[in-house]
Formats: sequence, structure tokens, C-alpha cells
Amino acid sequence: MPIHQDKEAAAAIRAHHLELRDTLRARVGDLRDAVRAGRPHSVSEGAVIGYLEDDLLPHAAAEEAALYPAGDTGLTALLVRAMREEHKGIVTNVERLRGAADGLEAVATASAILALFEAHLWKENELLIPALVADPNVSIGELLSGLHELVG
Ligand SMILES: [Fe+2]
Ligand SMILES: [Fe+2]
Repeated sequence: MPIHQDKEAAAAIRAHHLELRDTLRARVGDLRDAVRAGRPHSVSEGAVIGYLEDDLLPHAAAEEAALYPAGDTGLTALLVRAMREEHKGIVTNVERLRGAADGLEAVATASAILALFEAHLWKENELLIPALVADPNVSIGELLSGLHELVG
């Protein structure tokens, strides 16, 4: 169902961000617990990588296609530029996680991704989305309609 109201759309993005954050936190926590206990960690490492590949990276790509262009001008232009760079940083770290040599490196890299993502989400929720909602030339509802990756 298309979302027409900006505030509804903003709430849907924030709710999806919470879901992404909580799921990633839980999976990174499982990986850390397995490594700490000296248990085999390949399944929990795979669960982190799978979530990043199937949910988080598609979300970031959908944002870059549908949402960020609306923030590329004026007050939010530098913010959006920084946020695109953060997406790149996350992608680079996902590559590192795929190539992690052992459990320690996997936990360190997965924790770095989580920290990067949490700082990034704050900017999206508290700076970018409010700025776009306040912009009379932007309709977030229209930008998002049908974009499942952005709103879950
Ligand atoms: Fe996002
Ligand atoms: Fe993002």
C-alpha cells in the first residue's frame, strides 16, 4: 500500500531502522558470545553476514536511489554526502567480515559495522528525515511508495 503522508512515511522508516538495529545487535551479540565461549562461530558469523547482505545493504542502496537525492541540495547536502560515505564504509567492512581470518577478527569487524550503522542511523532519524519532512518541496511518502527495502 502506498504511503502518502510524510509523517507516516517518516515513522515507517524509523521503525524499520529500529528493526535493522535490533536484529543486527542480536546477531552480532550471538557471534561475540560464541567466540567468547570458544564455540564454533561459523553459523553465527554467517547469520551476521546474511543479514547485512539481505537486509541492511539493500536498505542502504534503496536509500541512495530513492531518499538521498532529495537531500542533495541546500542545508542537507553535506550531511547526505557524509552519509553516502558511511554507506561505503559499511560496505568495505562487510567485505572485511567476509574475509575474516578468525573469530576475533570477525567479532571486531562485526562490532565496527554495528557501531558505524548506529551512528549513521542517528543522523538519518534525527537530522535527515526531519529536514526532509520539513521541506515543502519533498514528499517522503511519494519517494518511498513501494520501496519495501526502506520500510520493511
Ligand atoms: Fe536507513
Ligand atoms: Fe543510510
